[in-house]
Order: sequence, then C-alpha cells, then structure tokens
Amino acid sequence: MKKEINVWEYAGQILEQTGKGVLLTTKADGKVNTMTIGWGTLGIEWGKPICTVFVRQSRHTKSMLDASGEFTVNVPMGQIDKNILSVCGTKSGRDLDKIAQLGLTLEEGQTVSVPGIKELPLTMECKVIYQQDQVLSAIDEECRNRYYAPGTPNGDDFHTAYYGLITAAYIIE
Ligand SMILES: Cc1cc2nc3c(=O)[nH]c(=O)nc-3n(C[C@H](O)[C@H](O)[C@H](O)COP(=O)(O)O)c2cc1C
Repeated sequence: MKKEINVWEYAGQILEQTGKGVLLTTKADGKVNTMTIGWGTLGIEWGKPICTVFVRQSRHTKSMLDASGEFTVNVPMGQIDKNILSVCGTKSGRDLDKIAQLGLTLEEGQTVSVPGIKELPLTMECKVIYQQDQVLSAIDEECRNRYYAPGTPNGDDFHTAYYGLITAAYIIE
C-alpha cells in the first residue's frame, strides 16, 4: 500500500536524510539499479516541484538516467540496515545486481517505470525535465579543488545535475 504525501511537508526530513544517504533508483532495458546519493535539492522552477540530483560521469546510474529519463528517490524512515547504503554507495550496477544481492523489495511505480523500494519507504517519482553538465571552470575554487582535484581520478569526473519533476510522492506501507 502507498500513502500519498505532500512532499513539502516532508521536505525537512528528506533533506536531512539526504545528507546521511538516500538511494537514487533507475531502470533501463528492464534492469533496475540503485546508488547512494548524499547530494540533492528540493525546490521550485517553472512553477513545478523539482528534486535535483547530482551524478558523476563515471556512474552506471548516469547511463541508466540518460537512457530512461526517469528515477525514484528512496528515503529511509527510521533505522535501516547500514549495509544497504554502504553497498549501494561503493559497488557499481555494472558489476553487481545490488537489488538482488541486498534482497531489496521493489514496488512498482505509479507515474514512472522505475520502482520504489519498500525498505526505504518514502518515495519520490521523478521525470527528468532538465539536465546540465556542471562546468568545472564555473565552480567555486574551494569546491573545485576539493571534489575535482586536477591530476586525480575525480579530476574530470564532474557531475551532471538532473532536475526531476516530482510526479508522485508517497510512503510505502
Ligand atoms: C554516502 C554516499 C553518498 C554518495 N553521493 C553521491 C552523489 O551524490 N553523486 C554521485 O555521483 N555519487 C555519489 N556516491 C557514490 C556512488 O553511490 C557510487 O559511486 C556507486 O557505486 C555508483 O553506483 P552505480 O555505478 O551503480 O551508479 C555516494 C556514495 C556514498 C557512500
């Protein structure tokens, strides 16, 4: 069962949890993949409710997102097995079926082809309404040096911002 929510009423909880880790789930070619994210925003543009996520070039999630243009964000409510965020934040869907490995329970989406995840029940369904590769030269020097240090593997592994129009929000019960 899904309990519809007003996303703004849960914005504080969603953003606080994002700082600790939430999941970004995608589906393409019939396969579901999920990865941990620690960055994300909620807001309004073009008069619409938008959840923006930031995905580095190297992530398998990026090719999934580019293929499907849809995602869900899955937010824990209360304690969850710490292994979930750890595995999803260190293993790539290119090498491992993380959903099967962790025994996660998928719940079919309402407005997107991407499922939610019962173990992280607060779900936002999103359709990509805009995407933008971040321009390294436009990033503040301190942030640029910290996250894209020249000469390191992250040097050109910059982020793409995916703006997801929130098409449904609910708690899986
Ligand atoms: C706490 C935490 C937060 C993370 N946040 C992000 C993020 O916001 N953006 C990103 O691109 N990678 C982030 N990562 C790294 C990805 O989760 C990790 O590289 C993952 O293995 C990518 O999976 P994929 O190749 O299946 O997409 C984070 C990892 C952790 C542990």
